[in-house]
Amino acid sequence: MKKDLGVVPAVYPMPVLMIATYDENGVVDVMNAAWGMVCESDKLTLALSETHKTVKNIKINKAFTVSLADVKNIKAADYFGIASGNNTPDKFERTGLTAVRSERVNAPVIEEFPVTIECELAEIVRTENFQSVVGRIINVSVNEELLDENGKVDIEKSGILMFDQFKHSYYVTGEKVGQAWASGAEFK
Ligand SMILES: Cc1cc2nc3c(=O)[nH]c(=O)nc-3n(C[C@H](O)[C@H](O)[C@H](O)COP(=O)(O)O)c2cc1C
Repeated sequence: MKKDLGVVPAVYPMPVLMIATYDENGVVDVMNAAWGMVCESDKLTLALSETHKTVKNIKINKAFTVSLADVKNIKAADYFGIASGNNTPDKFERTGLTAVRSERVNAPVIEEFPVTIECELAEIVRTENFQSVVGRIINVSVNEELLDENGKVDIEKSGILMFDQFKHSYYVTGEKVGQAWASGAEFK
């Protein structure tokens, strides 16, 4: 028996994305975004509210970075979703995390987050209440200790977080349970 939940953004898991930008004075801001996903092999899209400092910063610099948050930095990651750079100018500073300027785009890279996607703004598509910010991926950098012997990110040891929209909870990436393009092959 199924029970209807009505209209809810019932996708699980959602990522825990850290969107990092500079304002017009070079002050770092980072926000937490769950509503984001790749939309081309070299592009990703984020559904962001227009009121966020982050959106203003992206419009100014036409650039941002997107990092995957991990369990080691869960407190800062959640805080980046609670406070706003609009009324907390030292929002980033308070966390004690480290920002360095990206060599490729006009946006900060947060050293402590394990995977960072450096993006140039490609376009902004207005939806009803949100703006779909489309970024062109210029580079992805990864903390070396997360790479396996084949140079791939080892998700099982990464501690990368997932977000559960139903209970507003964070989970850590779990064990491998299948191989994509192979687990379903017997039905072909
Ligand atoms: C778990 C979590 C996920 C969030 N996801 C989004 C999102 O996808 N889009 C959005 O516009 N705001 C999202 N927010 C809210 C922003 O992170 C929050 O409003 C933040 O204060 C904006 O910061 P800024 O004004 O410094 O840019 C999320 C917050 C949390 C805690």
